[in-house]
Amino acid sequence: MSPPLDIRRLSYADLPQVIAIERRVFPTPWSLAMFVLELSKPSGICLAAVREGRLVGYLVCSRYDTVWHLMNVAVDLDARREGIGSTLISELFRRGDGPGERYTLEVRMSNGGAISLYEGFGFRGAGHRRGYYHDNREDALIMWRSAAGPVDGSNGASGSAGRAGSSSARA
Ligand SMILES: CC(C)(COP(=O)(O)OP(=O)(O)OC[C@H]1O[C@@H](n2cnc3c(N)ncnc32)[C@H](O)[C@@H]1OP(=O)(O)O)[C@@H](O)C(=O)NCCC(=O)NCCS
Repeated sequence: MSPPLDIRRLSYADLPQVIAIERRVFPTPWSLAMFVLELSKPSGICLAAVREGRLVGYLVCSRYDTVWHLMNVAVDLDARREGIGSTLISELFRRGDGPGERYTLEVRMSNGGAISLYEGFGFRGAGHRRGYYHDNREDALIMWRSAAGPVDGSNGASGSAGRAGSSSARA
């Protein structure tokens, strides 16, 4: 049986571990300053997934006007496909959902795993941003979810690709 996973608010003290994962996981990692900025926003939801005292994943979601923007989700390389990404997103919806709440994100067209994950939570593709990612000019898939969608990731995930880059959003 896997050790228990604790989902809690991401704190400034977590940032060294976050940056280490960020550099392992992404070709264009966020800077420390970008995480500090997101953590400083009182309206945002930033979560840490911790197992046996080690940070194994994180999620950053900002609120812009009336819409939640899922900016970043990552799980460390050796902790994938154990439900940690799903648990982080479920907790986001538990904290953020309410009547009429809407969520959006951008994800690389080539990131099939992340797209499948998001589709499982009711996100649906709604257009593209051409050349959104600076490193390889890859297009982003824009996805949206309304709060009426499922919150447990159990609606039959399927799909194609995932993560963002021209702006800071990359989930
Ligand atoms: C995307 C990511 C956050 C998923 O985290 P995770 O903890 O491995 O995801 P889960 O274990 O909760 O997966 C839930 C479901 O999502 C789908 N999924 C997740 N990763 C997948 C992959 N690589 N390929 C296909 N489906 C995938 C599956 O349906 C999976 O269910 P299953 O394992 O029962 O088949 C993780 O792979 C990651 O950090 N990737 C690099 C960063 C990234 O691309 N972030 C998203 C864009 S910002």
